[in-house]
Amino acid sequence: MKPVVAIDGPAGSGKGTLARMIASHFNFVYLDTGLLYRTVAFLSIPLIKIRTMGIKELLDTASTLTNEQLRSAGNSARTSDIAKMPEIRDVMTHLQQNFIDLYKKQGTVLDGRDIGTVVVPDACCKLFITADLKERARRRFIDLKDKNTTFDEIFNNIKLRDIQDKSRKIAPLTCDETYIMIDTTDMSVQESFKICREEVKKAFMNSEFRSFV
Ligand code: CDP
Repeated sequence: MKPVVAIDGPAGSGKGTLARMIASHFNFVYLDTGLLYRTVAFLSIPLIKIRTMGIKELLDTASTLTNEQLRSAGNSARTSDIAKMPEIRDVMTHLQQNFIDLYKKQGTVLDGRDIGTVVVPDACCKLFITADLKERARRRFIDLKDKNTTFDEIFNNIKLRDIQDKSRKIAPLTCDETYIMIDTTDMSVQESFKICREEVKKAFMNSEFRSFV
């Protein structure tokens, strides 16, 4: 088992916000794995180049890009496309596992689509965060600074990504009995965080990593 909180779920479910709050509360190190895929997609970094990059170099590259560049509807769709490629997923999985190893003394929180299924199936705690499609689109619409994008565009973009992320052959977004499923549709951020925090605490207390919490 690894001292990791694995958080998976669809776009706009609130998993990024919750992952950050959990990391800050327990003093774990946070990795937004979507950011890695978005960076590769935005810069069209070739596979041969990614294979030579360490996780720190890829994170440094990501930090040179703005939220608007990375999270635009166009780059979101492109990201979902490249995320289907097995060779890309393979090298990205290795980078994420290196990150987990690097911070194994402190504990890590990773959020994405295949964290608990592929990247770290033996994570100490696995959370699946979800919410209704309409509510997720509403949240993403409020978040996005680019008001040239309409609610309908965001709704359709998320709907399409949901389908792609769930139906792809390699590492699809899926939830099994090893996850704790949390539906945040009717919850405030604080309410969802309280539930997550308790689940993380319980899982770590019942493991060899009790001293981490
Ligand atoms: O924030 P949001 O949930 O909208 O997306 P994200 O986590 O930044 O991920 C963007 C896209 O990257 C997703 O729609 C997936 O296609 C892909 N992704 C993935 O395949 N595997 C991951 N571990 C993370 C992201």
